[in-house]
Amino acid sequence: MNAQCALITGANGEIGHSLLKALAATGNSIISIDLNEHTPEHTALCEESITGDILDEDVIRAAEKYDIDVIFHLAALLSKSAELNPERAHRVNVEGTLQFLQLAQRVGKRRGKSVKVLFPSTIAVYGIPTLEEKRLTDKLREDEYQTPITMYGANKLYNEHLGRYYSDHYRQMSEIRESGYVDFRGVRFPGLISAFTVPSGGTSDFAPEMIHKAAQGLPYSCFVRPDAQIPFMAMPDGVKALIDLADAPLEKLTRRIYNIGAFAPTASEIAELTQQAFPGAEITFAPDIKRQAIIDSWPADVDDSAANRDWNWQPDYDLNRTFFEYLAPNIAERYQNKYANGR
Ligand code: SER
Repeated sequence: MNAQCALITGANGEIGHSLLKALAATGNSIISIDLNEHTPEHTALCEESITGDILDEDVIRAAEKYDIDVIFHLAALLSKSAELNPERAHRVNVEGTLQFLQLAQRVGKRRGKSVKVLFPSTIAVYGIPTLEEKRLTDKLREDEYQTPITMYGANKLYNEHLGRYYSDHYRQMSEIRESGYVDFRGVRFPGLISAFTVPSGGTSDFAPEMIHKAAQGLPYSCFVRPDAQIPFMAMPDGVKALIDLADAPLEKLTRRIYNIGAFAPTASEIAELTQQAFPGAEITFAPDIKRQAIIDSWPADVDDSAANRDWNWQPDYDLNRTFFEYLAPNIAERYQNKYANGR
């Protein structure tokens, strides 16, 4: 994606951190928003960095003066944080998304062209009722088990519907056509693993926490069972997915929300690879029944054939490449440690 005006919300977060750099590297003009102060490195890459709450009208007004082509709306409370304060999660995750859909609608109408809204949805929109049933399921398609058990999953699933509504049906009773100014597109991310940031507030955090602790030579007690299984992805592929979907011609898209997959290891497979990548890593398992129940409701893997067919989605990083070419060398450098085995 290049030479466009991109607005990124949650720019300091896990995905924002990497996406911002990738967009800046290809000549895009970037407006960033985050609740926390931006780093000098980020500020230097942005036309404007706005610090504030996405629910604050002043923040929206500050962004609205730009001729925005695409919004990457990343700001959200993840699954664990959302369970600790469900009402706040609803405000941030749902009302926050509504703010940016409305912003896109206004900017699109002002400019007479649609504004793309790229949305990170999640495997948390799925809710498989029992572990027995999860073990019997194949890779889940987009329309299966749409019964999330978390506030976060429910928020994201509803946001998918909101995005479709703004894009295709907004104010459908109005005399003049009001839809078509928002072009909403989303990917359902698996757990993401970054070499550069450690997530907080999520339930898939056990994998990145395990790896980052090992890289620092610290022991880790994993909060899910060794056989717990959900899909994961290396952060460069997550960023690539958002950019590739933004670049895809609209006429090729047969849906607005796509599953994307990369690999789907069990927690014990992640532990074994972590021990190979960071020899001597001390990993134990002490499942937390509540967090485990959330992981058990998420799919073991997803069917991403629609993304592959419509916009050529395929990950660059399989599990081994993620560990030995992406994580081990980059994390080792980050912590300047002696544990990494970059093979
Ligand atoms: N990584 C997210 C979480 O654990 C799921 O999308 O909340």
